[in-house]
Amino acid sequence: MLERMQILMCGGTGCLSSHSKDIRAEFDKVLTEMGLREEVQLVMTGCFGLCEKGPVVIVYPDETFYSHVTVADVHEICEEHVLKGRPVERLIVKDPVDKQKVKNFGELKFYSKQKRIALRNCGNINPLEIDEYIAKDGYQALGKCLTEMKPLEVIDWMKRSGLRGRGGGGFPTGQKWEFASKSNDPIKYVICNADEGDPGAFMDRAVLEGDPHSVLEAMAICGYAIGAHQGYIYCRAEYPVAVERLNHAIGQARGYGLLGANIFNTGFDFDIEVRLGAGAFVCGEETALMASIEGFRGMPRLKPPFPAVKGLWGHPTNVNNVETFANVPVVYLKGPDWFKAIGTPKSSGTKVFALGGKIANTGLLEVPMGTTLREVIFDIGGGIPNKRRFKAVQTGGPSGGCITEKSLDTPIDFDNLVALGSMMGSGGMIVMDEDNCMVDVARFYLDFTVDESCGKCTPCREGTRRMLDILNKIVKGDGTLEDLDTLETLGNMVKDTSLCGLGQTAPNPVLSTLKHFRDEYVAHVVDKVCPAGVCAALTNYVITDKCIGCTKCAKNCPVGAIQGSVKQKHKIDLEKCIRCGACKKACPVNAISSKPEDWRNAVRG
Ligand SMILES: Cc1cc2nc3c(=O)[nH]c(=O)nc-3n(C[C@H](O)[C@H](O)[C@H](O)COP(=O)(O)O)c2cc1C
Ligand code: SF4
Ligand code: SF4
Ligand code: SF4
Ligand code: FES
Repeated sequence: MLERMQILMCGGTGCLSSHSKDIRAEFDKVLTEMGLREEVQLVMTGCFGLCEKGPVVIVYPDETFYSHVTVADVHEICEEHVLKGRPVERLIVKDPVDKQKVKNFGELKFYSKQKRIALRNCGNINPLEIDEYIAKDGYQALGKCLTEMKPLEVIDWMKRSGLRGRGGGGFPTGQKWEFASKSNDPIKYVICNADEGDPGAFMDRAVLEGDPHSVLEAMAICGYAIGAHQGYIYCRAEYPVAVERLNHAIGQARGYGLLGANIFNTGFDFDIEVRLGAGAFVCGEETALMASIEGFRGMPRLKPPFPAVKGLWGHPTNVNNVETFANVPVVYLKGPDWFKAIGTPKSSGTKVFALGGKIANTGLLEVPMGTTLREVIFDIGGGIPNKRRFKAVQTGGPSGGCITEKSLDTPIDFDNLVALGSMMGSGGMIVMDEDNCMVDVARFYLDFTVDESCGKCTPCREGTRRMLDILNKIVKGDGTLEDLDTLETLGNMVKDTSLCGLGQTAPNPVLSTLKHFRDEYVAHVVDKVCPAGVCAALTNYVITDKCIGCTKCAKNCPVGAIQGSVKQKHKIDLEKCIRCGACKKACPVNAISSKPEDWRNAVRG
């Protein structure tokens, strides 16, 4: 029977953690009770991108986008929308930019500037149903490659498409496949790098959860192109939903003869296994990853030899990132010229970003290369909430750097971001506003890389730790101007002499904040003040005239440092205050300030 309505519920990790599975079960129950179950198809999809609004439910054919849905809302949606055809107004998503309710989700500004290639099926299909992937042209590209093209032609198309690796380095994918194809070794491997370890990044997880078959299909195409018969997906164990869906998809593809022996009756054999990583950031580095698959400790080794020459168990191996693979089938479905025409001359196609930090629309988006940072942050991301001013955006995670206001109109591509002292990285994009301290931001990223350094080489193991010591000294108010010079010298030394990409890029957040926000560092070391009011030792808290005397701050202060009567302006005893910030968080009218311009007089007077 053909259903008259479809209800799509997000089954991405974000929405699952806010009970989207229970919402699906409730729809099933209520629709059955109402005798409507036969008329409505319920589909649990991957991430829709607007995770900020989750749990998300979309009702077709009218494309109504419901946000923050709870189990308690399901009955009303069934009764009003499904039965009577009247969408439930109170649940309809509001555009975060103009705060207007939007009738169908295509009107949301979040989606209007996006182009979805890697995410084409995420939020559109049930990732547990291979038939839904096939209905969206799934496995057609593999069929075409195996039955109509020679391996060298497959590689040639990939080179012509201009696709560059989305795992961070931006290496041309076709060229990489060509290197691996040149070896005569009868044993070769294809690896999908799904280790995704950057803080805040979840692009690859979304692809694996929402469209696992696109990755399997791409790996088989790559296997055919380079002459490999076995693939491994190295996925971090912290992604249990992705792992479950991948294994399910592999089973289904085998059942349909799309993996295993004699695929499409062409005599080509290719199979895939999932291997779990324990969650070390360094295991995303391709040589460490291979060591980990082989059962050794995940430590990088010197290159060359590159994996294409000597990879897994000593055999030629092609390693590509999840998002890189997700693009691959489209190159063969639509042709390399179609793909090459999207984006910029040197960076074709699109890029998926995980947008987070001080931004209205936290979530996942995909834009053509060449889109400007301003468009991503303000048009798609909805800008900075709470009327705060934009300060910087960090791209490339712990390996990247921060980009300031003056560069916001730069078109995003691999080379432009490097020219700005940052990098594309895998796609994390963290927005910062005037309340972020850039010294603290640099310290956060360096703290992460110090923790994740494998310790094999001295510059990274010792150098990053010494840099962190200096940053800790600065935020405690003990820093000197000489420390800033030492940070720079040490940072450049660690970059130049470390063995792998982790150490070679770890100083970037420090060096780029030193370059663009030196005045903030100077304020910390000379004036002994944190201009953003973040570093506890260099900050004081004062209550401003906005105070309405609600007493919440006093109730939340752990040391009883706040006095005041109901409906009267309160006061902080700076002698007692331990600068924990609890009062600032508790204040309902933002009356507590930690900005130097507000507390300096109070301290003096
Ligand atoms: C410390 C470190 C961590 C990395 N983590 C990842 C990762 O999580 N995922 C990924 O695809 N590439 C990661 N890379 C890059 C890989 O080494 C490799 O270049 C990439 O998987 C190649 O795929 P691509 O050409 O499709 O980008 C990392 C590199 C370094 C140095
Ligand atoms: S640079 Fe850091 S992570 Fe890389 S090998 Fe050296 S110590 Fe290990
Ligand atoms: S910063 Fe902490 S210790 Fe100081 S007044 Fe506020 S709540 Fe109390
Ligand atoms: S929480 Fe804010 S408004 Fe309430 S008493 Fe404290 S400073 Fe005043
Ligand atoms: S996880 Fe549900 S919209 Fe992203």
